[in-house]
Amino acid sequence: MKRRVFLLGSAALVAGGGYVWFRQSSVDAAALSGRPRLKMPALLDTTKSGRFGLSTNTGQTDFGGGRTGTTAGYNQSYLGPVLKLRSGSVQASVENRLKMPVSSHWHGILVPGEVDGGPHQAIEPGGQWQPELPIDQPPCTAWYHTHIHGATATGVYAGLAGGIVVSDGRDQARGLPSTYGVDDLFLILQDKRFSADGRMVYSGDMMSRMHGFTGDTMLVNGQVGSVTAVPKSIVRLRLLNASNARIFRLALHDGRPMHLIATDGGYLPAPAAIEELRLSPGERAEVLVDFSTAETAMLVSKPDPNAGMGGMMGRMQNLISRLGSDFEVVAFATDERLEGKISAIPDQLGGAIPDLRKLQVAKQRHFSLDMGMGGGMMGGGMMGGEMAINGKAFAERTINLRANLGTVEKWTVSASMLAHPFHIHGVAFEVLSENGNPPRPENRGWKDTVLVNQELELLVRFNRPAPDTAPFMYHCHILEHEDAGMMGQFVVG
Ligand code: C2O
Ligand code: CU
Ligand code: CU
Repeated sequence: MKRRVFLLGSAALVAGGGYVWFRQSSVDAAALSGRPRLKMPALLDTTKSGRFGLSTNTGQTDFGGGRTGTTAGYNQSYLGPVLKLRSGSVQASVENRLKMPVSSHWHGILVPGEVDGGPHQAIEPGGQWQPELPIDQPPCTAWYHTHIHGATATGVYAGLAGGIVVSDGRDQARGLPSTYGVDDLFLILQDKRFSADGRMVYSGDMMSRMHGFTGDTMLVNGQVGSVTAVPKSIVRLRLLNASNARIFRLALHDGRPMHLIATDGGYLPAPAAIEELRLSPGERAEVLVDFSTAETAMLVSKPDPNAGMGGMMGRMQNLISRLGSDFEVVAFATDERLEGKISAIPDQLGGAIPDLRKLQVAKQRHFSLDMGMGGGMMGGGMMGGEMAINGKAFAERTINLRANLGTVEKWTVSASMLAHPFHIHGVAFEVLSENGNPPRPENRGWKDTVLVNQELELLVRFNRPAPDTAPFMYHCHILEHEDAGMMGQFVVG
């Protein structure tokens, strides 16, 4: 079946690498002062009204730095507003003004299958979808994006994504920065490719389908080469990896710690100081950074571990994307006019540590994320681009498994060749082990997406229902893999 997808331009002309290679130990304040200031996404606060409306649009976007593109977004030409939600019922309305079906999946929001916004809740051109979302979960950072099977990669790349903040209004009592756009910042990390004349391009070639599509230019909140103004205080960064395929390994340029306070599912019991934060597509993390002593700082990333993989494909990818060194993600410069309220990292956050180990495991399952390597690299299914889980590619009419509401299952997920970010809808899970070891710090809180590099054991609790007509998905969040069939669906009842 031929699906309508965004025409994003061809990647035949790859520009000379938009990344700023980053090897210094200090940041030149003068060089930053000439840059445009990073804008926060508009905040759509629903905490009083209990309702919000989104409508998809297309348009021309100026990303800055001479880069432009034909893009799509919710309520604007690229990306969408950050939705602030509180507990209770929230009435959503999503209108589709595009010429192709879209959906709006609430990634990280634990709602029943009927209102999850997955591939079974497509909104046709000119159509409207009005789900009522029963919000009932701890405060967290989540997001929404289109989820049409076969058209998720191009749709999200075009811009159909936005942030979500679930709030209980108690962050001041927790001693956390909570002034949106001042000391509480939402940073949507994405990479793109641009042609020599600065137009955004996409390629669905064999290499991109195999590895997922990675870009040569870093965008934060849809902007290239900007600088983030921060107060001289403790600042919260809500980090969302909304890239199609790039895995970030984030660090501050001078090695100062990031204090991890929340993972996908919300707050940790207490902050954890880390030097490197791995964030794969779909994952979110909240960190506190102390800007009280420095004028400038740079958030950098090490190269994508999937790009460094051995073998012919890995080397070719390296030549094309030049991923060999650390690159700049986003710069920060303090601004005396901004008032930060928090001057110390809090000791406690009150978040719940995952505790599913105490419960009985109802079922054990194994998932192998397959890249169709069957007959070898040139002869096998890989050339056809078929991706699968346990040998089965996604089929719209096939329910792959059934779970019982209220139970806990142990899922062992394995991956070879590449690392794959594994996401499950409608649940929060606990990472039990990573390659036989205790989970790394980023994976010790509640999660809904986690990078599988070899083998992970998860404890999954099913406490949202999903019927046969609106099953939940589990899939690789490298969007090209997902679109190519590395996805399954399950009902909970
Ligand atoms: Cu963020 Cu099923 O997706
Ligand atoms: Cu999801
Ligand atoms: Cu994958």
